[in-house]
Amino acid sequence: MILVTGGAGYIGSHTCVELLNAGFDVTVFDNFYNSNPEALVRVEQITGRKPELIQGDCRDRAAVVAALKQSQANAVIHFAGLKAVGESVEQPLSYYDNNVVGTLRLLEAMQECGVKTLVFSSSATVYGDPVQLPLTESHPLAPTNPYGRSKWMVEEMLRDLYRSDNTFRISILRYFNPVGAHDSGLIGEDPQGIPNNLMPFVAQVAVKRREILNVWGNDYPTPDGTGVRDYIHVVDLALGHLKALEALRNPQVNKFPECLTVNLGTGRGYSVLDVVRAYEQVSGRPVPYRIAPRRPGDIASCYADPKRALELLSWQAKLGLDAMCASSWHWQSINPKGYQS
Ligand code: UD1
Repeated sequence: MILVTGGAGYIGSHTCVELLNAGFDVTVFDNFYNSNPEALVRVEQITGRKPELIQGDCRDRAAVVAALKQSQANAVIHFAGLKAVGESVEQPLSYYDNNVVGTLRLLEAMQECGVKTLVFSSSATVYGDPVQLPLTESHPLAPTNPYGRSKWMVEEMLRDLYRSDNTFRISILRYFNPVGAHDSGLIGEDPQGIPNNLMPFVAQVAVKRREILNVWGNDYPTPDGTGVRDYIHVVDLALGHLKALEALRNPQVNKFPECLTVNLGTGRGYSVLDVVRAYEQVSGRPVPYRIAPRRPGDIASCYADPKRALELLSWQAKLGLDAMCASSWHWQSINPKGYQS
């Protein structure tokens, strides 16, 4: 049994689908702060299997202990957390509370219950401004905002915990830019309010829920002047979590002196305009845009060196930009208002 915190969220729900399809039993632990219970109904529709649900908050240690006992989980995949960079600058304490304290309480509960296998959702944002590309896992860690620092602090906590007790099995997965949706069109990203991220914004422009995309800057030192990112299909990302679990269960993992820390990216960068063009192509809809000033805090380019994931997890992203845009469009056109549609 796997306890999936934040299992009703965007990446969590896609991972639940892959876990259930692979035969794992799943209990979701979610407070529905930024997610919708409907996602779990859809997970069941896709897989024909029902994930157990325990509504609760990771900061409530007793609730996590109860969930671990009730579910008899032997591993945890920990997605629950806040993830908006801008909001983290305005409300840093809320980010440290949810992301850092939430994980601390979860770890205490796991220790109390003797559950020692954990896959943690980190982010490429822990690297900060790249000093060298592609980003390898040994790139210095220098996050530039409270959200990124909350992920980095949890990583440090996990490294210290593993050093103190190497019977823990811990994987830290550093995601690049997750996009797209499940092929069924039943689950996908459902941002509240105005989307901050590129692909959901483009999707809402294509479906005419918003008028025009602002392209934040076209004077970056990139091929077309717009920002370059390593977009990764959320289904590939979900499969990376299964591979991480598998690797942690492999006795060879004892040989790792550290937590099993890997980038999950494709290794390929696409510009904002590449994404716009691909989206127009697969949707057959125009995506009008205008060039606007740079967004504060943005960097020119960011993409992964994905070699370590291949070596240690035997995982590699398989789906390209067209599949990412096509699945995003499928989800968006069936569910123009997300789970409220
Ligand atoms: C952002 C977060 C990062 C987080 C990631 C999750 C920042 C600074 N970083 O990354 O910490 O892990 O989301 O996916 O917020 N763009 C536009 N117009 C838009 C939206 C975006 O031109 O309306 C451009 C951006 O300038 C950037 C690219 O699209 O070049 C991707 O932006 P976004 O999807 O927000 O992701 P990141 O900024 O890479």
